[in-house]
Amino acid sequence: MKFEIQQNLKSTSSLSTLVLFVSQAKGNGKETNSPPVCHGLNAELKKVFHEALVEKSITGAASEVVFFRQASLSGFRHVLFLGVGDWKDGDFETLRSLGGTLESAISQAKLEGVMVDLNSLSEKLPAEAVQAFVEGLRLAAYRFDDFMENQKGKSKDTKIVLSLAHVTKAHRTAIEQAQIIAETVCFSRWLGDMPGNLMTPSIFAEEAKKAAKGTGVKVTIWDKARIKKEKMGGLIAVNRGSNEEPRVIVMEYKGAGLKEKPIALVGKGLTFDTGGISIKPSPAMEEMKFDMCGGANVVGAILAIARLKLKVNVVVIVPSTENMPSGNAIKPGDIIHARNGKTYEINNTDAEGRVILSDALTIASEMKPKALFDAATLTGAMMIALGNIHTGYFTRDLDLKNEIEEAAKASGEMIWHLPLCDHHTRDIKGTFADFSNIGATRGAGSATAAAFLEQFVEKGVPWAHFDIAGTGWATGGRLTYNSKKGASGVMIRTLIELAKRYQ
Ligand code: BES
Ligand code: ZN
Ligand code: ZN
Repeated sequence: MKFEIQQNLKSTSSLSTLVLFVSQAKGNGKETNSPPVCHGLNAELKKVFHEALVEKSITGAASEVVFFRQASLSGFRHVLFLGVGDWKDGDFETLRSLGGTLESAISQAKLEGVMVDLNSLSEKLPAEAVQAFVEGLRLAAYRFDDFMENQKGKSKDTKIVLSLAHVTKAHRTAIEQAQIIAETVCFSRWLGDMPGNLMTPSIFAEEAKKAAKGTGVKVTIWDKARIKKEKMGGLIAVNRGSNEEPRVIVMEYKGAGLKEKPIALVGKGLTFDTGGISIKPSPAMEEMKFDMCGGANVVGAILAIARLKLKVNVVVIVPSTENMPSGNAIKPGDIIHARNGKTYEINNTDAEGRVILSDALTIASEMKPKALFDAATLTGAMMIALGNIHTGYFTRDLDLKNEIEEAAKASGEMIWHLPLCDHHTRDIKGTFADFSNIGATRGAGSATAAAFLEQFVEKGVPWAHFDIAGTGWATGGRLTYNSKKGASGVMIRTLIELAKRYQ
């Protein structure tokens, strides 16, 4: 997909479709019979579509697509009306969503390119609005088709020309930034969508390294010997059952002064989670290839932050392994020594995410970061609590909570703060070691997981944990710009917004 923005509205042979936004008339909260509104129709278009608008065969309802195949007007062969409902200035997420709706109309109708008349929405569209719309289009154009011979690479070169009466430098920058953000989200989705046999810890690390070329991000990959040397007892333990070597992906970006403390991002990189000896049931186990989405998304976040040239230092740490049952695998009851000197019992080998993250959080804390965020497909309980709409997050730091809420508001991603308190910490006390890797009671499984992670974050480090078990991959086609089923790249946009706040 290629984007351009220009002042004038002119058709060309490869650009035969005109897209117009149409909104429902505002009745000040009451029902209104007034026709829907489409600003900026020229005289010819006005004449032809007047009836359709008055009769409401075009209603302007949100996400409505009315496509006139043979319109041949003002030099355009096709005219597509995109309903925006009662869209209000500043509602950027609706525009992102409309970008997704438009992309699916484009791909269904197999259009080579479209001219989008942004004036039909508003003549003074702010740069953020254009950014959100472009993000939606580009995110929706993602296909995981590497293994589908006859679909591979389709819709890649669709041309999107945006037309706006008052184009500023900010609009052009917004289009560039939207593409950077969407491309990195799509890269993270691709990492997550790749099957476990083709996205092992070592391949994951190599792909991260390859993607970082030319971005200014330094990548260091720790092998098993280094991981042992770093006393990452948790990662070594989970890796015992696997024939694939573990890796830790360390990425550093220095956009600020060399002495500035970084923000640290830690992600769960489980390339496949069978549950280990506490093996999972077979139905839907294939979904556990997505268990590295937290890792994939923090990798995407640092790449985007670097490409956007944000003036902030960032470090990423992603522990990566498979969780497999075997004669060498860890067993329930085993006791593990963590890097920070604490010990814990493995009472369920399927609660492995927190185990591999533990020492990574300690290493990140030792850097005294300005803030530490982790993202992990950590608990099935999170899917039960919040489904796949909101990402649940935990932090005891109320200032950090405010920052996160602001950042998510700006990114359009939906999040929900959940409680983490000393009761949850008491729940993970061990019988034969300091802690247990599972809670003593059945409830609040996501909170006890967070309480376990907290044991490895040094006191005083502002820390928040995002449990993306429900939102890390999309199901049900809720967001128009996500795959119907596949990795979503969730939290990358929010992490970018957070990084901006530490500049
Ligand atoms: N990767 C899973 C969490 C998960 C489950 C994510 C389903 C998405 C969908 C994690 O490693 C896990 O299995 N957690 C256990 C923890 C339990 C044993 C305390 C779970 O949630 O069942
Ligand atoms: Zn598990
Ligand atoms: Zn897992």
